[in-house]
Amino acid sequence: MNGRHHGYEDEQLGKALDFRLLRRVVRFARPYRLLFVLAFLLAGGITVIELALPYLVKTAVDSVLVLPWIEVRADVPPVEGALPYDPGTFLVNEQTLADPVRQALEEEGRVLRRFLVVPADVAAAELVARYSHLFRLTPVGYAAPEEALQDIPSLDLLRLRASAVELLGFLALAYVGFLVVRFLLTYGQVYTIQYAGQKILYDMRRAVFGNLLLLPMSYLDRQPVGRLVTRATNDVAAINVMFTQVLVRLLRDLLIIAGVLGVMFHLNVRLTLILLAFTPFILVLAFWFRKRAREAYSAARRVLARINAYIAESLSGMEIIQLFRQEERSRQAFADINRRFFRAQMRSITVYGVFGPVISVMQNIALALLIWYGGRGVLAGAFTLGALVAFTSYIRMLFQPMVNLSEQYNILQAAMVAAERIFAILDEKPEPTGTRTIPILHGELEFRDVWFAYNDEEWVLQNVSFHVAPGERVAIVGPTGSGKTTIVGLALGFYRPQKGAILVDGVDLAELDLQDYRRKLALVPQEVFLFSGDVAENIRMWDGVVPSEAAEGAAKAVGVHDHLARLPEGYRTQVKERGVRLSVGERQLLSLARAVAADPKFIVLDEATANIDSQTEAQVQEALERVMAGRTAIAIAHRLSTIRNVDRVLVIHEGKLVEEGPVEALLARKGLFWALWQLQFASGESPSPAAG
Ligand SMILES: Nc1ncnc2c1ncn2[C@@H]1O[C@H](COP(=O)(O)OP(=O)(O)OP(=O)(O)O)[C@@H](O)[C@H]1O
Ligand SMILES: [Mg+2]
Repeated sequence: MNGRHHGYEDEQLGKALDFRLLRRVVRFARPYRLLFVLAFLLAGGITVIELALPYLVKTAVDSVLVLPWIEVRADVPPVEGALPYDPGTFLVNEQTLADPVRQALEEEGRVLRRFLVVPADVAAAELVARYSHLFRLTPVGYAAPEEALQDIPSLDLLRLRASAVELLGFLALAYVGFLVVRFLLTYGQVYTIQYAGQKILYDMRRAVFGNLLLLPMSYLDRQPVGRLVTRATNDVAAINVMFTQVLVRLLRDLLIIAGVLGVMFHLNVRLTLILLAFTPFILVLAFWFRKRAREAYSAARRVLARINAYIAESLSGMEIIQLFRQEERSRQAFADINRRFFRAQMRSITVYGVFGPVISVMQNIALALLIWYGGRGVLAGAFTLGALVAFTSYIRMLFQPMVNLSEQYNILQAAMVAAERIFAILDEKPEPTGTRTIPILHGELEFRDVWFAYNDEEWVLQNVSFHVAPGERVAIVGPTGSGKTTIVGLALGFYRPQKGAILVDGVDLAELDLQDYRRKLALVPQEVFLFSGDVAENIRMWDGVVPSEAAEGAAKAVGVHDHLARLPEGYRTQVKERGVRLSVGERQLLSLARAVAADPKFIVLDEATANIDSQTEAQVQEALERVMAGRTAIAIAHRLSTIRNVDRVLVIHEGKLVEEGPVEALLARKGLFWALWQLQFASGESPSPAAG
């Protein structure tokens, strides 16, 4: 499989902020900056509403539910606007008192009771008349002490307090209104940010895949396929999460923290400071747990990757497993990984299972403290009941973003790792290609002292020199692994020689525009690859220049037409990614037809006839004759029968060119070629070079 195999990605931990990387990531976001600005604005609006909601509740409690008038024992009016009530007492509207004054009155025990005050209008007068023993007329209206209200039926009470009921209704309506607006803003914000995020994702995938298409084979050889797939999908997604989850939410969380602190300090400084003492614990706990959780999670991911790889491998090798009766061993091996996955998963679940409740307990302890200390404050008149109620909401709003921070830190960390990998691909230099084009390729090929190694200094080709004249038909033979396919790879510019030069029509391959060069030649590779698409498309290779009849013509020329016409939908039959519907021989013939359809001046055949029967072979032999006639052709063959009619043979052995010449001359030399020939035709086939 080309030396590439399926590898699966391990999650790694990296640093959360790498500004150099971040700057490059942000460059992808630049085209969508207006969307981000919009999202930020919406987030700001949401924050304001979130802050306003508890305040609305506070207002409802303090201005409506709690009676604002108190009777204060004092010899002189304690505050401007205080109304004399009984001898030595005054009625005071609590909301007109400054906090310290109210607290002082409370502490000195001078607040006696609360009063309901009903504005003295006609409607009220009529009602009050029924309970005249409870009410007393004051300059601000009819006043009755709170405890006396028990004697009034609740319906009448509601009518007496009609204005308060109305205000309450208005507040409830405003609350709902805020909720609706928050919903709309949230929807808008999520949509905007996700739209931008998906756009960035789209751009990144395109950039990554676009670069993969240009990368040199020598790079792709070294990369497991699975890893590159992960780059183009998972890693890109991890960066998207950063844009959608972190960027805006972080800002919103910080806004909320700042806003909540502002409101809390405004409501009560002492209480806020006490609650703030909790935050270090929450932060430390959150970050500690997140770290744990992430480790457990990535451990589980690693094992999951192994499970996936094992299942994939087993499925593709199922025939061999069953043939060699490896079912039991396979089951055991799988059970082992499966168990490890189960354990890893449980570890991860345990961490999360502890994390949530612990944070929740912390929050509730803070809440208990709030009720205890804050409740005392209310009793002591240090602040209002409404403020206490609002605090219970704000405290949650304060802690949740802090817990979120740790999560965002993790996401950021993962995104940085992903970004690093993605940029590693994007930074990979495309296959170097020259700019010279050859208008008409004759296919003259020269190897000049070529040395080549896939890895470092493990020479696969050593000092190979040969020359193929235009229109010449040359065969390359040699034992398995001697370097034949490597020569083809070099001649087509998939790899660059370390030493020496390769010339095509007298031009150094390094200077040639490879795309242009490859368009003018055809290769029948050793390993056939069929793309998803139908048979005709696979022969024409989506090339608009090749007319559709050419597909059939080419198939006829190589003798595969009858096979293909017999398929369920003929030439419209879809072949799966790896051509599972076709036999190996059919695929090889189809690949040959592909080359014929391209009608090139220069054709390279690597083992083109390895897997076909003798009868078809004769047919193909004839087709090859036709294909090779008038073209420069290089044919690699194990079966020497297919090369009887070539002009010249190059014999490769262990990366070196050991013999070279026409078939007869080589046979006369009684060297390596002669030995190979003897082996091949020992079983009774005609050893005569001229037959065929
Ligand atoms: N992509 C690669 N990366 C590293 N080594 C490779 C790669 N392709 C081939 N090789 C090695 O280079 C040597 C020559 O391989 P090559 O495919 O050229 O042989 P070949 O003559 O075509 O053999 P065969 O007749 O079996 O097709 C072998 O030892 C092989 O292991
Ligand atoms: Mg080969």
